Amino acid sequence: MNGRTTIADLLTAKQERRPIAAVSCYDYTTARLVAQAPVDMILVGDSAAQLLLGFDSTLPATMDFMVAITAAVHRAAPHIYLVADMPFLSYHLSLAQAIRNAGRFVTEAGAQMVKIEATAAYLDTVKAVSKAGIPVMAHIGILPQRIAAVGRFHAEATTADRAGDLIDLAQEMRTAGANALLIEGTATEVAQIITAQSEVPVISCGSGPGCDGQILVAPDILGLGAGHPPKFAKSYGDLGARFVEAFQRYADDVRSGRFPDADHSYHMKPGEFERLQEQLGKTRPS
Ligand code: KIV
Repeated sequence: MNGRTTIADLLTAKQERRPIAAVSCYDYTTARLVAQAPVDMILVGDSAAQLLLGFDSTLPATMDFMVAITAAVHRAAPHIYLVADMPFLSYHLSLAQAIRNAGRFVTEAGAQMVKIEATAAYLDTVKAVSKAGIPVMAHIGILPQRIAAVGRFHAEATTADRAGDLIDLAQEMRTAGANALLIEGTATEVAQIITAQSEVPVISCGSGPGCDGQILVAPDILGLGAGHPPKFAKSYGDLGARFVEAFQRYADDVRSGRFPDADHSYHMKPGEFERLQEQLGKTRPS
């Protein structure tokens, strides 16, 4: 594809029933490889706090950190549709704070859309940010930023009453101006109903095959063995074991003196070593 993927391309994909392949990734090196696949969308998720920084939740991700890694991913994958995750407390204080922080992702990091973990309490936030001209992906279902409030997560919308609530919430998010939905950890049947009712693209994160697209985090796709992958994660390569093997071979080579060899070392220009020895001989008594 020439040029950069736009929101119109995502809408066309939905209308033409071409599934959208999305990956959550956090760094330049990985994003370069993701872009070569290619995928249709990259989310720079606040799961970076867990999978990049080693925290036990997404809560410690800060705006400055998220902006820096989003910009790095944009440099690596300038043509891929880029969504940035608004971290905990970056949109909770006021509508002005939400617009200002969402705008930072666009102006400083090249993002085309921001993702907001959206309970009904954040409908006004979704509205304000999208009215400011910044496309919003409303993240519903399991909301990782609510870990402190709920203690642990369960699959969402597994009863008719909870399903009805989520279907209503999705409708309210669309009415508030959400340009896309992300549904996490939700019963397949319910995600499918929401997708069928939505005029905007709906991305599933562990919510079954009935949505317009799918997203997984890069470390789970690669099988890096980071954290505890959720039930819905699927690994497409056992790269964690390959990484360990490469590091072991490197460490063995260092310890045995096989690395570095002449091919991996710099050398003085011809004749310069002899000149140096002469100079050293003149200045240093032997
Ligand atoms: O933070 C993240 O990577 C996400 C995806 C798992 C959807 O929100």
